[in-house]
Amino acid sequence: MTDRTLPKWRPRTLAAQMCGAEEPLTKGVVPPVHVATTFIRDPDNEYRSGFAYGRPDNASVRQAETVIAALEDGEEALLFASGMAAATALVLSLEPPARIVAPKEMYWALRHWLAHEAVRYGYRIDFADLTDLDVVRAAVTPQTRLVWIETPSNPLWSLTDIAAVAELAHAVGALVAVDSTVATPVFTQPLTLGADIVMHSASKYLNGHSDVLAGVLVTRRRDRAWNSVTSVRMQHGAILGPFEAWLLMRSLRTLDVRLRAQSETAALLAARLSRHPGIAQVFYPGLDGHRGHAVAARQMRGFGAMLSVRVTGGEAHAIATASRVGLWRRATSLGSVESLIEHRASVEGPQSACPPDLLRLSVGLEDVEDLYADLDQALGLGLPCANANDGRRRT
Ligand SMILES: Cc1ncc(COP(=O)(O)O)c(C=O)c1O
Repeated sequence: MTDRTLPKWRPRTLAAQMCGAEEPLTKGVVPPVHVATTFIRDPDNEYRSGFAYGRPDNASVRQAETVIAALEDGEEALLFASGMAAATALVLSLEPPARIVAPKEMYWALRHWLAHEAVRYGYRIDFADLTDLDVVRAAVTPQTRLVWIETPSNPLWSLTDIAAVAELAHAVGALVAVDSTVATPVFTQPLTLGADIVMHSASKYLNGHSDVLAGVLVTRRRDRAWNSVTSVRMQHGAILGPFEAWLLMRSLRTLDVRLRAQSETAALLAARLSRHPGIAQVFYPGLDGHRGHAVAARQMRGFGAMLSVRVTGGEAHAIATASRVGLWRRATSLGSVESLIEHRASVEGPQSACPPDLLRLSVGLEDVEDLYADLDQALGLGLPCANANDGRRRT
């Protein structure tokens, strides 16, 4: 489904070569950052370059969108100023009072926006356990316009069967959108499994260096629904900036190799931590005992680089462990080349369903032995904090 003018290369090749982009003036192998926000009309009053103003469109943004659409095997992509901007634009493109089915376990801030803000616009949100197909069957109704999937989902990395949910959603005429931030197109291509839209927080793996905030939607086909999304981005001024788009495209060139290396390290850590006396439970889709392992094995080409652990000794010990690491960065977010650790309940706040003793680990590109040794010493030395609620901050 990718643009027929693109070379017939595999996704990894298309990304490494930025779909063949080059700089026409000097023949440089790297395109420039297109910073202009306004463009000169042709003498006959037309805009033949295809560019008129920077809010609807930008050439650097378009280049990164072309690469992402190719990676997802989609027809077109739209980049936004953040993952939240992308996700909310999709919802706001629907005509209220549309019903939306969303997972119970999902990225916390989007769940909060759906539950507390989207309803103010007249949308009706039905939260359901999308890992259970009987529950999905009961949740979708003829009024459902969108089924939102996140797989693997924050923070337990539960798996949703995209193809099965898409069949149920399409039977009532609803769109299916997948937040595939954690899987990335390296491991899952939701559009090829029946989804209509893929969403990423490109701030995570697609960029992968903790220095760009971005979001993207990719569509299977350009249709009326997609035109509405394009219109929301333009009218809300939610387009990504050109510098960020350029940095993102640079990062996409190494996405495949980063993800494979990070996922390999995550799998080794998950196996070793499962045997660690300081760990009560490990959540990683690649482990046989994980609830979603069978779906992951069928749906994913790799199990990704996110895992969570429950620390023996409870919440205070989990927070103390996070405070004792030396190599892992104690910070929120995920998907970068540096490994991150966080006590997730501190981020999500008192309403969180996240187990209080859970630490979320985003595995980067460091040596697995260094990562394991640091966790091992932190688990051994962790002393309970005086106040487990210190530092609660929502993102
Ligand atoms: C799975 C997932 N989806 C969406 C988002 C929101 O993305 P952003 O922070 O780029 O707005 C995040 C951010 O953490 C995320 O982890």
